[in-house]
Amino acid sequence: MDPLNENAGKDKLIIFDTTLRDGEQSPGASMTRDEKVRIAKALERMRVDVIEAGFPIASPGDFESVAAVAAAVRESTVCGLARALEKDIDRAGEALKAAARPRIHTFIATSPIHMERKLRMEPDAVIAQAVMAVKRARQFTDDVEFSAEDAGRSDIDFLVRIFTAVIAAGATTLNVPDTVGYNLPNQFGETIAKLRERIDHADRVIFSVHCHNDLGLAVANSLSAVCNGARQVECTINGLGERAGNASLEEVVMAVRTRRDFFDCYTDIDTTQIVPTSRLVSGITGFPVQPNKAIVGANAFAHESGIHQDGVLKHRETYEIMRAEDVGWSNNRMVLGKHSGRNAFKSRLHELGIELATDEALNEAFSRFKDLADKKHEVFDDDLQALVTSVSSEGRIEESMKLLHLKVCSESGEVPHAEVVLLVDSDERRGAAAGSGPVDAALRAIDSIINSGSQLLLYSVNNITSGTDSQGEVTVRLQKDGRIVNGQGADTDIVIASAKAYLNGLNKIQSSISRLKAQGGDV
Ligand code: KIV
Ligand code: ZN
Repeated sequence: MDPLNENAGKDKLIIFDTTLRDGEQSPGASMTRDEKVRIAKALERMRVDVIEAGFPIASPGDFESVAAVAAAVRESTVCGLARALEKDIDRAGEALKAAARPRIHTFIATSPIHMERKLRMEPDAVIAQAVMAVKRARQFTDDVEFSAEDAGRSDIDFLVRIFTAVIAAGATTLNVPDTVGYNLPNQFGETIAKLRERIDHADRVIFSVHCHNDLGLAVANSLSAVCNGARQVECTINGLGERAGNASLEEVVMAVRTRRDFFDCYTDIDTTQIVPTSRLVSGITGFPVQPNKAIVGANAFAHESGIHQDGVLKHRETYEIMRAEDVGWSNNRMVLGKHSGRNAFKSRLHELGIELATDEALNEAFSRFKDLADKKHEVFDDDLQALVTSVSSEGRIEESMKLLHLKVCSESGEVPHAEVVLLVDSDERRGAAAGSGPVDAALRAIDSIINSGSQLLLYSVNNITSGTDSQGEVTVRLQKDGRIVNGQGADTDIVIASAKAYLNGLNKIQSSISRLKAQGGDV
C-alpha cells in the first residue's frame, strides 16, 4: 500500500444524495426550483457523486427543477426518479437533457404486500415491467439505476430473480431500499451479502442501499450494508426525508472517514462543506437541526462537564474523535468590523466558498454587512453566511413588499403593539396592530396592510452565533391556496427578523402567483 495515499487499495463508496427528492418528501419541506439549484450547487461543491434532483413526472414544477439542476451542475451526476412506466422514464430523460452526467433511477415494488395490495400485479409481470423500464431508460443514458421498492420486506429469491433480469437489461446500479425502515443492521448486511453471492454478473454492477429511519437505524443499516459490499449509499443532508427521514449523509461520511481503520472504502466528500450545507438546507426548508444531532448539531462538539473540558484542553483526543473544523464548523473568528472595506468583505466571502452571482448582489450584501457591523461590532463567519443567504434568496424573487420601518412597544402588564411602514409596489403603506407578544403584533400589523389570507404553519427562531448580541434567524412556513413556502429573515432584533421572514414568505407566494399568471396558468 502506498503510504502517501491511505485510500490506495480501497474501494470508493459512492455518495448519492437525495435531499432534493426523498428529502423534499418530508411534510412541509418543499423547495422552489431556485432553492433546489442552490442546494445542488452546494452538494456539488461538497463533491457528492450523485444528486437525485427530483421526480420529473410528479409535477411541472418537479420537471423544471430537475432540468434546472441538470443545467447548473457539471461535476456530479444528476439523477431523475421514474416509476417503471414508459411515460415516467421519457419525462425523466427529457428533464435530464442538459445534464453533463445523467442518470435515470427507475423503481417498482417487490414485496408481497406491495405487489398484491398496491400494484395488484403478479410477480412475473413485475419483473417484465422492470426489464422494460430499464431497457427504455438505457435509450436515454448508459447510467441506469434500478430500485426494488420495499426490498427490506421482499423475498430474497424474488430479489435475486428481478435483479438478475435487470442486469441483463442494462441496469448499472442495483438499489436495495429499506423503504419502511423495518430492517436490523445484521439482517440487512446479510441480505446484501446474499444478493452479491447469488445474482448472476453481480460484479458488473454497483450495489446501493437506501435506508429509512423509522427505527432510528438508517445509518447503522447503511453501514452494515457497506461492510457487506454495498458501494453506494443513498442519504440526505440532516437525515431529512419521508416520515422519520433517510440515512444522514454527514453521519455516513464521517463514520467511514473516522473509522478508516475499519472500512475498506473511502468517499470523495469534502467534509469541510458539511456544516455550511447543513445550514443551507435547514434554512431553506425551515427544519431546524436538533442541538445534539451528530456532526451538525450545535452541541456536537461542545463539552459541558468540567472533566471533559479539562481533558480536551490537555489533549483534544481524550474526548474528541473528530475535529470540528474538519466538518466545517468555523472557529467563528471575528473576520470583519465596521471599518472593513468592500475588498476585504469580498475576499472573506471567497474564502468561505461564497460567490454572489452579480455585482448588484455583492453591493447589497456589503451594505447590509455595514449595517450589521454598526449594530454588532464583531461580525463572524456565520453572520456572513446568514447575510448572504438572505440577499441571494431575495434576489431571486420579485419583492413587491418591503419593510421600511417597524416600531414595537412591549412592556410588562401591557398589550404589545406594533406600527409598521411597508413599501408595497412603490406605495408607502402604514399599519398597526396589537398582539399577544411583540412578534405576533408585528406580523398582525403587516397583515393589516397586506391582508394576505395565508396561514402560518411554522415559526422558528435560532441564534446564528452565541451571545446576546447574536443575530436571530427566523423561519416561517406559510400556506396559501395549496402552495407552501418558507420565508427567512435575520437581524440582531428578532422582532425585525420575524417581520423580514414573514415578508420574505409573502413575497415568495406573491411571486409564484405572478409567475403562474404570466404563464397563463390556473392560480
Ligand atoms: O424509499 C424508497 O423505497 C424510495 C425509492 C424510490 C428508492 O425512495
Ligand atoms: Zn425513500
